[in-house]
Amino acid sequence: MNDPTNDWKRVLDSHRLPEPVYVTKPTMPDLGRYTQELESLWKTGWLTNQGCMHQDLERRLEQHLGVENLSLFCNGTIALLVALQSLRINGGEVITTPFTFAATPHVLHWNGVTPVFADIDPHTFNLDPARIEQRIGSNTRAILAVHVYGTPCDVDALQTIADRHGLAVVYDAAHAFGVRYKGQSILRYGNASVLSFHATKLYTTIEGGAVVASSQQHKERVDFLKNFGIADEETVIGPGINGKLNEFQAAFGLLQLETVDQEIAQRAALARLYRERLETLPGLKLLPHNKEVTPNHSYFPILIDEAQFGISRDALYQALRDCNIVTRKYFHPLCSHYPCYAALPSARPENLPVAERVAQRILCLPIYGSLPPETVGAVCDVIGAIHRAAVAS
Ligand SMILES: Cc1ncc(COP(=O)(O)O)c(C=O)c1O
Repeated sequence: MNDPTNDWKRVLDSHRLPEPVYVTKPTMPDLGRYTQELESLWKTGWLTNQGCMHQDLERRLEQHLGVENLSLFCNGTIALLVALQSLRINGGEVITTPFTFAATPHVLHWNGVTPVFADIDPHTFNLDPARIEQRIGSNTRAILAVHVYGTPCDVDALQTIADRHGLAVVYDAAHAFGVRYKGQSILRYGNASVLSFHATKLYTTIEGGAVVASSQQHKERVDFLKNFGIADEETVIGPGINGKLNEFQAAFGLLQLETVDQEIAQRAALARLYRERLETLPGLKLLPHNKEVTPNHSYFPILIDEAQFGISRDALYQALRDCNIVTRKYFHPLCSHYPCYAALPSARPENLPVAERVAQRILCLPIYGSLPPETVGAVCDVIGAIHRAAVAS
């Protein structure tokens, strides 16, 4: 008799990749060009505080993204914190999603706001507008929505709800660099949008981020707040913070900007390959296409239905790891499960059934510009082989 454990072991052994493949990897700029860019810093000694490269990068990012009033930051988390402060969202309650990175609810907490979690849409994994209105109360100040994986939220529905109740809308657009919706930048919606340029992101300044403000006056307020509230040498107009991006990061960002479109195009080709190979596998669900969206392919999430696929998400995660393929369970656990939020009434699992289900089933596969198409093929081979072995055992 054949021992199924041996079959399983054979599948993993025969598909193991020689080197680990991670979920993402930054595309590095040419080192010679980067050192050249830095030479000017040795001449001027101007290392931070809105230097020439910082100013240049703000302008170029605005042009590239098709937005105005962009303010650079040292990271996306401080950018979020300041975006909320700039809109005076510093108390009461804000409705947000549990299916996001830790920074989203944490910036609310740091601003003295109680996060109120609302459930997500089963197809886009973004805040479900139908669930938001049920959570609005007399203390609600704003909606903090996330374009998860770069998929646009239902921005029109969110704005209608916000207008009806007099709420601000802030978008955590950490994943949405370059995404367009109905022909314009997704960053143009709401009262502010916030980007992250962390090393794991499609476009990176190593650490970094930006606020896209809604007017020039709003950008000025954001700029004061990110620079200790300093207006001039002798005037501090409010309790700001230090959120500045330095010149080394700006130089990195300027070079990254030259290659980011190519990075997106390479990812698009890899995403197509994944789709061709995985779309027909039983028990796997991929993100839907939306004709109104120009995506950036920052992530390639799959949803695993254990009953049809043959094994659970966690088992697939482990099997892939055994084959040297390092996937990530973004976003498991849900933020509503963190000990600091779990006691909130809105965090109860029965209030968030879709998010609970998605967090148990989601897996993000490797995707980045320099990932060879053959490796994507190999990842799909492993997933297919695991599925066949699982349903046969
Ligand atoms: C959805 C989301 N929000 C906020 C952040 C925080 O950005 P940063 O790491 O630049 O502080 C990240 C990523 O890191 C993120 O994925």
